[in-house]
Amino acid sequence: MEGKKELRTYIKTLLNEMSDNTYRTFSENISKNLQSLLLWKQANTIAITISRGREVDTKSIILKAWKENKKIVIPKCNPQTKEMVFHHIESFDQLEEVYFGLMEPKIAETAVVRPEEIDLLIVPGICFDSKGFRIGYGGGYYDRYLVNFTKPAISLAFSCQLVNHIPKEAHDIPVTKILTEHEVITCDV
Ligand SMILES: Nc1ncnc2c1ncn2[C@@H]1O[C@H](COP(=O)(O)OP(=O)(O)O)[C@@H](O)[C@H]1O
Ligand SMILES: [Mg+2]
Repeated sequence: MEGKKELRTYIKTLLNEMSDNTYRTFSENISKNLQSLLLWKQANTIAITISRGREVDTKSIILKAWKENKKIVIPKCNPQTKEMVFHHIESFDQLEEVYFGLMEPKIAETAVVRPEEIDLLIVPGICFDSKGFRIGYGGGYYDRYLVNFTKPAISLAFSCQLVNHIPKEAHDIPVTKILTEHEVITCDV
């Protein structure tokens, strides 16, 4: 279980073994944990991704945010530069599938939102350690974005996505909290 690639494969297997019921119940618990945070309550603009497969469900989180009049911004990735730009969406109709179920904002219909305007960044990932280091999908998009991002960046994960040790590289930037179905882990202590 040494490299990032092996860990990605191993955790994806665990996630696929989770029952649909467990997936739904745990996602709801994580959503409740998120809404209990002062960070959530105080955030007006929240950056998040559209979940797919066995990622913690974010669609219900987005609906809750809209109900509370919060602004939701979603990344548009540039595969050439491996950089992303967040766009403000007000409806799921403003999304389009780019590849393999990955939903991104329609750029002609949605305004760009600068990093300074984002109050809370929810960072996706495949696995995490208790210090907030993560293994993402391998593009390094969030490591690049976090270089110039000063507001809270946190992650949502099922507890089976937590591991004791993450192989770290110099460019990897940790998140400050991880919310699981059981607990809120504070990483920056
Ligand atoms: N701030 C950065 N500047 C330049 N390249 C970066 C930066 N952050 C990450 N990278 C590059 O992106 C690639 C993927 O990063 P990695 O941490 O393995 O992916 P992920 O975080 O998505 O799991 C690596 O080759 C890494 O060198
Ligand atoms: Mg990384």
